[in-house]
Amino acid sequence: LPNQVLNRTSFHFQPQRNWLNDPNAPMYYKGFYHLFYQNNPLAPEFSRKKMIWGHSVSQDMVNWIQLEPALSPSEPYDINSCWSGAATILPDGRPVILYTGLDNNNRTQVTVVAEPKDVSDPLLREWVKPKYNPVMVPPSNVYHDCFRDPTTAWQGEDGIWRVLIGAKVKDTETGMAILYRSDDFVKWTKYPVNLLEAEETGMWECPDFFPVSITGKEGVDTSVNNANVRHVLKASFGGNDCYVIGKYSSENEEFLGDYEFTKTSADLRYDHGTFYASKAFFDSVKNRRINWGWVVETDSKEDDFKKGWAGLMTLPREMWLDTSGKRLIQWPIEEINHLRTKSVKLDSCEIKTGAAFEISGITAAQADVEVTFNLPSLEDNPEILEADHHVDDATLFDRDSSVGCVYGPFGLLALASDDLSEQTAIFFKVIRRGNGYAVVMGSNEKRSSLRDNVKKSSHGTFVDINPRQEKISLRCLIDHSIIESYAAGGKSVITSRVYPKLAIGEAAKLYVFNDGTRGVTMSSLEAWSMRNAQINTNTTY
Ligand code: FRU
Repeated sequence: LPNQVLNRTSFHFQPQRNWLNDPNAPMYYKGFYHLFYQNNPLAPEFSRKKMIWGHSVSQDMVNWIQLEPALSPSEPYDINSCWSGAATILPDGRPVILYTGLDNNNRTQVTVVAEPKDVSDPLLREWVKPKYNPVMVPPSNVYHDCFRDPTTAWQGEDGIWRVLIGAKVKDTETGMAILYRSDDFVKWTKYPVNLLEAEETGMWECPDFFPVSITGKEGVDTSVNNANVRHVLKASFGGNDCYVIGKYSSENEEFLGDYEFTKTSADLRYDHGTFYASKAFFDSVKNRRINWGWVVETDSKEDDFKKGWAGLMTLPREMWLDTSGKRLIQWPIEEINHLRTKSVKLDSCEIKTGAAFEISGITAAQADVEVTFNLPSLEDNPEILEADHHVDDATLFDRDSSVGCVYGPFGLLALASDDLSEQTAIFFKVIRRGNGYAVVMGSNEKRSSLRDNVKKSSHGTFVDINPRQEKISLRCLIDHSIIESYAAGGKSVITSRVYPKLAIGEAAKLYVFNDGTRGVTMSSLEAWSMRNAQINTNTTY
């Protein structure tokens, strides 16, 4: 089989063919989960002329059936494309979609309402665009092409509907979430004050706004607001999905964030790898909030055409507020575990300096791995690299600059070839910072492929744990050409899109490695082969 076939994922969402970008309007309705997505149905590249909404349904968010497209250009206000948007479930249970139309007047971005033609159809196959569209057009301080991606609407105590639109102030780099309000979901009025804005961030795409409980993992409906919740505002800019946690009051229409967006690595990010334009929804079946993100390709356009497809979604991730209140935790939905099959389990052992030992007995190209490391002897050691003064992030997050590192880099080598000439290292380093120790996590694609025409980055971040008191845990979901890595139970996440040339199919291997100058204890490891999911293999039209 050619690489193009072997590189295709087995349990990540993508259409059978052609281009996918943003997830749109995820929701649950009458027994089915729905996922819509930005799609060019004709080619594996973004279409300037005719983006549509692809549509699939599922009963477990693991196996999907592809339906006919839900929204396609048809009217003067969306004739040049149907861009991103979201769904709102109205109090009577009816879903309604708000999306971005690119109109016949210079592709001006306008907001459009779509409704199901037949609410008794659980598959929601047909959508209609009411006569009164469009319902919003760019305000005077915004250019025609900087006004898009309506959020799920929420209702205040006063019964008024609210929705956010991503935008940018004319002739500035100030990104913003413009607030609109409506009594009837038909007539929308711009609120004079933005819900949030930040200088220097550029255009905010795909904003998201939702409450998270301060008392546990359970998700709540988007309209819930009380003393037990805080709010999250996410915006996509500069290639990242960044978020602010804060307090929202619908009474004074005010969102007080705990900090401000800076468009630097100081911003909180859902994912530190390849991940963009995500969209969350409240799953009323299991009372959880679930987020979907788009993973763009890292190989060339030429390769996309050879493969015939481009773009996929991350696994659906459950999201909740960390007990610290400082960040969100993300974890693949439990349904993903149903794909686990044959497993291997290792007892606690020491990983010596320079070691790289293979975890055999599972399908390493299609696997789920959970591993924990322990640094029992992490004493006050002046030899350990001190980061504050003389090391920049790029060096710190690079697997190959282990200069001065005593503990680390250690971790997993995923999608590795026999001779290790190909490998994606998902690793940790422990450094001294301030009076204590800090843990760095990285996912390094530099050696992920012997091919040249592939983008290879070294992604990294700090993981907020104290390695003197806590074990360092990692879960990696490996699926042929994507690796999703969750550290410390989902405190930090990095997604890598990689295109190995040798480490494909049965030839792909998995290793545990330690390049630090000190041994580390691997206190546990369990790995599973993963079954194939049925992803859009059955189309119904
Ligand atoms: C984000 C984005 C959105 C837009 C859509 C078009 O990736 O640029 O802002 O609505 O993609 O496909």
